[in-house]
Amino acid sequence: MSKAGFSTSSVGRKVFMALTGAFLVVFMLVHLTCNLFVVGGAEYYNAMTHFMGTPIIKYALQPVLALGFILHILFGLYLAVKNSMSRPINYKNANYGAASSWASRYMWLTGIIIFGVIVLHMANYWYKIQIVGGVENDYELVVNLFKDSMCYTILYIVWFVILGVHLAHGFWSMFQTTGQAYVKWLPCLQKLALAYCAVVSLGFIFVALWCRFIA
Ligand code: HEM
Repeated sequence: MSKAGFSTSSVGRKVFMALTGAFLVVFMLVHLTCNLFVVGGAEYYNAMTHFMGTPIIKYALQPVLALGFILHILFGLYLAVKNSMSRPINYKNANYGAASSWASRYMWLTGIIIFGVIVLHMANYWYKIQIVGGVENDYELVVNLFKDSMCYTILYIVWFVILGVHLAHGFWSMFQTTGQAYVKWLPCLQKLALAYCAVVSLGFIFVALWCRFIA
């Protein structure tokens, strides 16, 4: 298959989504681990944000992860638009088999919702810390968002549940594409992936609830 053929073929697109998705997977684990420092209180959380602000992480690791993240989202949106334009039957009238789960049909929708909330999330935290600057206590900024607003707490929890569903199907789909050579490991990998999604989703929910009710 030619290079152009690979990038436009369905396998090529899936491999690209899987590779950029892998950045997302790593980012999510690192981000969750960082935010779990909230349990230790202001001293621990602020020490963590201070460490994450060191040049090697701020200018090397974060931009690479962010680039993978952005490419994954943009290419996913591009594929969703392209697919919906070339789809001959209306979604509502189509008869999808049992194999086509709700999560797989609505990856584009859960992806858009996740992206929309990320924009809001970055406005709440990243923009204030990195762009506006002058935030002296990152812990307070993080915790107060939840403490001051039940609406935000609920919105974030819904976001984390949708994120879990999106990631779970993303993994499944990635293994379908890239795990063919390891068929006998697939059931095990899929269980591992489900465990990962549960940990990420429930982990972030835990952080939000901790900020709201305990911090
Ligand atoms: C309770 C859960 C979460 C908390 C408390 C939280 C907190 C934060 C904070 C404080 C920052 C700013 C970091 C800095 O600039 O120094 C940030 C940035 C960011 N967050 Fe979250 N976050 C949470 C969940 C998530 C989730 C689930 C995602 C992705 C789906 C996400 C994606 C991002 C991105 C892309 C950035 C900007 C890049 C970065 O600074 O690392 N966050 N978050």
